[in-house]
Amino acid sequence: MTDRLLDDHTLAASSVVANSAMNRERQLAGPNSYTRDLGFNPLDRVLSGDGAVAWLDLCCGQGRALLQAGTEAAARGLAGRVALVGVDLVDYFDPVPPGSTVTLTCAPVTTWEPDRRFDLITVVHGLHYVGDKLAVLARAASWLTSDGLLVADLDLTSIRRADGRPLGRALAARLGSAGFTYDSRRRRISRVGGRELTLPYTFLGADDRAGPNYTGQPAVHSYYAPL
Ligand SMILES: C[S@@+](CC[C@H](N)C(=O)[O-])C[C@H]1O[C@@H](n2cnc3c(N)ncnc32)[C@H](O)[C@@H]1O
Repeated sequence: MTDRLLDDHTLAASSVVANSAMNRERQLAGPNSYTRDLGFNPLDRVLSGDGAVAWLDLCCGQGRALLQAGTEAAARGLAGRVALVGVDLVDYFDPVPPGSTVTLTCAPVTTWEPDRRFDLITVVHGLHYVGDKLAVLARAASWLTSDGLLVADLDLTSIRRADGRPLGRALAARLGSAGFTYDSRRRRISRVGGRELTLPYTFLGADDRAGPNYTGQPAVHSYYAPL
C-alpha cells in the first residue's frame, strides 16, 4: 500500500484535488451554504465575541462565504471589527471588492502560516482532499484564540494505518485526549481553545485513488504510522 502514496506537494497536482466538479461555491447562508453545513452562521458566531474578531476559512474554495460575510459586516457598520481570511490551494476566488475586510490567499494549508490568531477557524469539506490531515488539525489548533472554535468536516475512516485499516477508535481517543471532539454522525471534528500540540503519528503519504467518500466526490485517504 505505502509504495504508491503521495506527499502533499505531489498530491496538489492530482486531478482529485484539482477536480473542477467539487463544490467550491458554498455561500454564507441559505441553500448550499456554510450555515446549512455547519449548523450556525459563522459571521454571527464570530461577531458574538467582543472587540476585534477574526474568522479563518481553510480550503475556502471561491471564498464566497467570506466575501458575503464581508459585505454583511459592512452593511451592519461592523467591517472594522472583523478580519476575514481565506486560504485555498487553487486560485478560483471570486473578486474581492476594493476596501474589503476579506483577504484570500492561494497556498497549501499544510504550509501556510498566519500572522494572527482566530476566533473561528472553519474547514468545510476541505480536509477530504488534504494529505496530512492531522498536521492541519494540529496547526489550526495552535492558531485559535483562547476561546476560539475550530470546526472541520472530517471522515475519520479516511485516516489509515500502513496496512490500509482505518486508525479508528485509537485515533478518536488520541484526538479526544488532545482536546478535539469528533461527531461521528455528522463526520465533524471541533475544538475550543488554542493550544500548541503534537499528535503522535508520522504521516506516510496520501492515496488519491481512494474513490468517492460520503460526499460522493473522489477523496483522499491519509496514511500514518502511530508513534
Ligand atoms: C469541496 S471544496 C470546498 C470549498 C469551500 N470550503 C466550500 O465549501 O465552498 C474543497 C476545497 O479544498 C481545496 N483544497 C484541497 N486541498 C487543499 C490544500 N492542501 N490546501 C488548500 N486548499 C486545498 C480545494 O482547492 C477546494 O477548493
